[in-house]
Amino acid sequence: MIRGAYSLTIALPKGRNFEEAVSVLRKAGLEVPTLQDERVMTLGQQGGTGILLLRNADVPVYVDLGIADAGVVGKDVLLESGRDVYEPVDLGTGICRISLIRHPDSTGPIRRVATKYPSFTSRLFKERGWALDIVELSGNVELAAVTGLADAVVDVVQTGATLKQAGLEEVEVLAHSSTRLIVNRQALKLKSQILRPLITKLRELSGKI
Ligand code: PRP
Repeated sequence: MIRGAYSLTIALPKGRNFEEAVSVLRKAGLEVPTLQDERVMTLGQQGGTGILLLRNADVPVYVDLGIADAGVVGKDVLLESGRDVYEPVDLGTGICRISLIRHPDSTGPIRRVATKYPSFTSRLFKERGWALDIVELSGNVELAAVTGLADAVVDVVQTGATLKQAGLEEVEVLAHSSTRLIVNRQALKLKSQILRPLITKLRELSGKI
């Protein structure tokens, strides 16, 4: 049973952002063991810092519902999740943007958009008064614009290499994203002796103080 086993529980995303998140937490003074096996779900010694290894989109869920006290996740994921978590530090890494992307041959009105960010996209276009059919996909979203599944896609652009390779055009930047520390609002009060210094240290490290 994991619940209550750690003095502080942190949710981290597996995959490309994992190493960077671990590195910044270590610099801030937390002891984080090395991940040896990708199938492992938790890291850490009883009584110390516990790490829950999750999919990106699940990090805000675990933090909002208080299973994790804090987490590290991209702003893009937060914008989609709509979870009410405290977001005290912009770590300044993982800089990317969520953009509207089209194939240059697709010039008609945008009626159908494919995306991994359906809530964000629907909210944004509703504000603009655009009635769109939103198709939720879970990966390789660009392919929807290439194949004509959708008139446009809303997806992450980091280096722009994927777009270039697929021959697509970035029409508009809809939001900017970078990696954030998120904290459960109740944990911030109950574990302030651990979380406040961690927040201060991470702000210093990211040059925000
Ligand atoms: C993201 C995004 C783009 C790519 C953009 O995909 O969906 O495909 O990165 O990065 P770039 O501008 O540096 O090329 P990710 O690799 O996270 O996987 P996915 O396509 O399976 O969602």
